[in-house]
Amino acid sequence: MTRTRVLTGITTSGTPHLGNYAGAIRPAIAASRRPGVESFYFLADYHALIKVQDPARVQRSTLEIAASWLACGLEPDKVWFYRQSDIPEIPELTWLLTCVAGKGLLNRAHAYKAAVDRNREAGEDDDAGVSAGLFMYPVLMAADILMFRAHSVPVGRDQIQHIEMARDFGARFNHLYGEHFVLPEAAIEENVATLPGLDGRKMSKSYDNTIPLFAPRAELKKLIFSIVTDSRAPGEPKDTEGSALFQLHQAFSTPEQSAAFARAFAEGIGWGEAKQALFERIDAEVAPMREKYEALMAKPIEIEAILREGAIKARRIATPLLAELRHAVGLRDLREQAVAAKAGKAKAAMPQFKQYREADGRFHFKLVAADGRELLLSDGFVTPREAGEFIARMKSKAFIEQHGSIKGAPALGDVAFVRLAEGVDWDVVFSELTAFLEET
Ligand code: TRP
Repeated sequence: MTRTRVLTGITTSGTPHLGNYAGAIRPAIAASRRPGVESFYFLADYHALIKVQDPARVQRSTLEIAASWLACGLEPDKVWFYRQSDIPEIPELTWLLTCVAGKGLLNRAHAYKAAVDRNREAGEDDDAGVSAGLFMYPVLMAADILMFRAHSVPVGRDQIQHIEMARDFGARFNHLYGEHFVLPEAAIEENVATLPGLDGRKMSKSYDNTIPLFAPRAELKKLIFSIVTDSRAPGEPKDTEGSALFQLHQAFSTPEQSAAFARAFAEGIGWGEAKQALFERIDAEVAPMREKYEALMAKPIEIEAILREGAIKARRIATPLLAELRHAVGLRDLREQAVAAKAGKAKAAMPQFKQYREADGRFHFKLVAADGRELLLSDGFVTPREAGEFIARMKSKAFIEQHGSIKGAPALGDVAFVRLAEGVDWDVVFSELTAFLEET
């Protein structure tokens, strides 16, 4: 069975919030339990360095995100769960891809272009304040994905362009050096929730309107009570449409619970009461995980050990692939050169069995001497496999040595399916066939 490899990275630049949970963590963990799927989840801490230059924050975020995924039920022995910076093959692959990545394509990356546009508006130099890291972001991300030959990458819409770039770099590499990479597809989950934040806009770090996933109970309550609502009084019917309160509730309830909440809105539930109900809904789902989270956060040694184990497991894939890629591009053991030259020479002087299919649908082969002269022609075989087996026998040491040492035609049974080409005798055939003895 071919398994689908699903891979996604989480940038370690902040504290997971309810939006991350409903939009990414919860669906990803559910997906990792589906049969036939191999899941790769990693902490993209190299990516974090592009926007965060506060070391303590990078470390803290890495711990918080790892603890969050584990507390939410990720099973590290059933998936690949690792920290990007524990895999030295990733930056190495980044360089190999850098050398095939079109600079023009990177110029068009959304994040980079947005930075340039901001600079132009401010009358600054195009690249003012833009690090080469930001510019190279898509190449590092392509390395993350191509390294594990991921088929499917669940991401938000803003990341689609990055997946397309990964395909582009992977395809260019394959074209130049052979088929080493699987070309990934973006998987956009249409029905995952994008949650509104405290102010009703999309919950996002950049709007400073988030509710931390594992805020302590009292803080969670305080934040939920600070969600912006309209001024309708208790007893007045309220709209569910466009209500942040209602949407948040929906993301944490069954369809029945949500329908009941909608009825309460129509019947004029007071905002205070609605907020209390929302708080209880969210807390019911989060509280058991919060307990695990707090226990994990108190044991960074355990998390560190889990991540190191994860890196060992991931490198079982990354290390051999990188060895293959280094070889493919020509970063090779110099001692190989002698061997390659010798093999090249032998090949040039080799006779060849050529297989082909005739109009009657049967599979034939002929033996062609190193100089191109036809030596033998076969009868038709029903399957290519039978033809191949006959060829294998004629190339075998036993066959060549047995017949080559005797002058004249071999016993008919041994060569019943072949006939000599015109003007050729068996001695010529066997002297050509001896080339196969030296081949190995
Ligand atoms: N760029 C992604 C984000 O900001 C994070 C990321 C890094 C990623 N490498 C990845 C996502 C590889 C998917 C696959 O959300």
